[in-house]
Amino acid sequence: MYKILLLGSVFLFGVHTQVVEKCRTDTFPPSEDTKLPTVIVNLNNAPENRWDDAIKPYKDDIVKLIQTITDNLNKYVLDVADVAFDLLLTTLPQPYQSEIKGVAKVLGLPEGQVALYNIFYELFTVCTSIIGEDNNGQLYHARNLDFGLFLGWDNGNDTWLMSERLRRIVVNVDFQRDGKTVYQSASFLGYVGLLTAVKPSQFTLTVNERFNKEGGFIGIYRWILGDRNAKWMGFLTRDVMEGANSYSEAKDILMKQELLAPAYYILGGNSTGEGVIITRSLDEVKGVEGLNITSNRWYLLQTNYDPWDEPPFFDDRRTPGNICVKSWGQQNLGTKSLFNVLSTKPNLNKLTVYTTVMTVRDGIQSWLQNCKTPCTPW
Ligand SMILES: *[C@@H]1O[C@H](CO)[C@@H](O)[C@H](O)[C@H]1NC(C)=O
Ligand SMILES: *[C@@H]1O[C@H](CO)[C@@H](O)[C@H](O)[C@H]1NC(C)=O
Ligand SMILES: *[C@@H]1O[C@H](CO)[C@@H](O)[C@H](O)[C@H]1NC(C)=O
Repeated sequence: MYKILLLGSVFLFGVHTQVVEKCRTDTFPPSEDTKLPTVIVNLNNAPENRWDDAIKPYKDDIVKLIQTITDNLNKYVLDVADVAFDLLLTTLPQPYQSEIKGVAKVLGLPEGQVALYNIFYELFTVCTSIIGEDNNGQLYHARNLDFGLFLGWDNGNDTWLMSERLRRIVVNVDFQRDGKTVYQSASFLGYVGLLTAVKPSQFTLTVNERFNKEGGFIGIYRWILGDRNAKWMGFLTRDVMEGANSYSEAKDILMKQELLAPAYYILGGNSTGEGVIITRSLDEVKGVEGLNITSNRWYLLQTNYDPWDEPPFFDDRRTPGNICVKSWGQQNLGTKSLFNVLSTKPNLNKLTVYTTVMTVRDGIQSWLQNCKTPCTPW
């Protein structure tokens, strides 16, 4: 994995420089047709069937996307053996294993390919997350989801095909039980984990990938060798949405649970000061940065680098992001300002698929993004 990352970065970063623009103030509200549609997943249904209705209308687009990914992986990285991923699927925890099988059935694809597609999001997602508190103590949690970095795709047709196809299958999901919302997410259909989610009146959660030497493959290796105590990044997020009933319960789980891949968990709560970035290795908490209103730390911004390290010059989305959040100021914190910050290059880039703003009061709102040239590829 690390080798692929290195090759990918030398290739990508070697030939491009970042496009940085002045903080945008004119992007909100974006046009109505960029708003993500909402699908409902009824948790009362058996795991094998609960995605059926959500997926059926999008079937062709999901199938095409999974085929693009499989083809590209075969071309650039690995020879995808369905058998291996069939086996891996049998080790995935429930209910996710059954949900993936159900999704494969609706799509008419081999189960192993859908399992691969689910694991894929664990490995190739970069992002920016921001959590902030306004002058009235209201918390806002926003994120850009950037997908597909390090696959060795350039500005050519593969990138274009991939992002076109991704944009057609991204939705807000309303997970319901007994007709009531339990949690909401912004998701790529066919992926059953969560990267961006809110539990109304309780907490908001996003996960950003953390690239690290002891990255994904060590964890996956341990998993294959039979250590099943660790959790997959996106499944843990969903476990937390299901199981935790407060900010502090959620925080506790995210700090203690053994992971398969290093990650940043960004968690927001329901009262003043409840916002935190948890930097995780597989077994440990490497750092916890929290909001602190008394010392004027009213927001936190996290990309894909440790908060105490300088971001690399070729991928510094932190400095421009900070400049823009500060230029709006705490008094203007809200959906409009956060959307504008995340619509400013390079936080907006070629990989950005959607921007989400969440509050525990109002739930989730998401919009499709499509960075027009000139625009950095990441
Ligand atoms: C990319 O390829 C697809 C089909 O192979 C074609 O329809 C599309 O026009 C191409 N797009 C670009 C930007 O080259
Ligand atoms: C917030 O900052 C103040 C002043 O620097 C410090 O005394 C306090 O311990 C901090 N609170 C938290 C929760 O870290
Ligand atoms: C806490 O939740 C209530 C009910 O959803 C909401 O009205 C309030 O604004 C929330 N507080 C914060 C700080 O988000």
